[in-house]
Amino acid sequence: VTEIANPEQAAAWNGDEGAHWAAHADRYDASVAAYNEPLFAAAGIRAADAVLDIGCGCGQTTLEAARRAPGGQATGVDLSGPMLAVARSRAAAAGLANVSFVQADAQVEPLGDAAFDVAVSRCGAMFFGDLAAAFANIAHALRPGGHLALIAWTSLDRNEWLTELRRSLAAGRDLPAPQPGGPGPFSLGDPGRTTALLQGAGFRGVDLVEERRDFTFGADAADAFGFVSSIFPVRGLLEPLDTAARAAALGELRATIERHAGPGGVRLGSSAWLITATRA
Ligand SMILES: C[S@@+](CC[C@H](N)C(=O)[O-])C[C@H]1O[C@@H](n2cnc3c(N)ncnc32)[C@H](O)[C@@H]1O
Repeated sequence: VTEIANPEQAAAWNGDEGAHWAAHADRYDASVAAYNEPLFAAAGIRAADAVLDIGCGCGQTTLEAARRAPGGQATGVDLSGPMLAVARSRAAAAGLANVSFVQADAQVEPLGDAAFDVAVSRCGAMFFGDLAAAFANIAHALRPGGHLALIAWTSLDRNEWLTELRRSLAAGRDLPAPQPGGPGPFSLGDPGRTTALLQGAGFRGVDLVEERRDFTFGADAADAFGFVSSIFPVRGLLEPLDTAARAAALGELRATIERHAGPGGVRLGSSAWLITATRA
């Protein structure tokens, strides 16, 4: 058993929330799949590279990295046993032999000395309790000149998918906004802070570019409502409400989803930083 520095994150991702992600892996992938193209364009993976996927979850991006490095290999690291089980079975089904997965806390796990050419993450590097320690650990695992490419949410106000969920479910409450500095979806959201963080961890040439893509909730309103009403952030907002308020909030959520349904499914705006840097 390796060291866990983020026990609350481990409890969630290796517990019920991770099980939900594992059970609905294709849907979660579809929700943010539009970010794969900018992520991999920036990562610049070459055929013989060793690639690290941080917080790889169910492994869609790890498999993509392995396909881009047929003469190299891709390693996914994640806290979640259930999500890694999906990742491993996907790798086997795809017949990819150059992929492996490690269940560990990327903040503290010894990932090797200069063992990787590239590190990527799609929304998996935002949950560290100690961001400085985590990125120093990741920098240590990259060879000098190695590349880092991350997708991480910008700010709440630029992410309609989340502001609309929160507005629908507020039920008169003044919900506390998640803060940069994390751990949470917006922990890398402040560009100045993230630049200083990565420089301090041993990276140079830090760059943040905003990418805006649609966040996809489902094929149609009924499909999207069924899924969204089951996700953990939504359950968390519903939980403190009494039965009547909960029913009203769910009605509001359904109306919101119906408003955003179109020919391409239920899509809401989202905004992420494409963060790139080079290991000094
Ligand atoms: C929002 S999910 C994204 C998963 C995946 N990258 C994707 O795009 O579908 C966040 C992931 O980060 C993982 N995670 C959170 N904290 C972690 C840590 N300290 N070490 C390793 N993985 C972590 C979670 O287990 C979860 O799989």
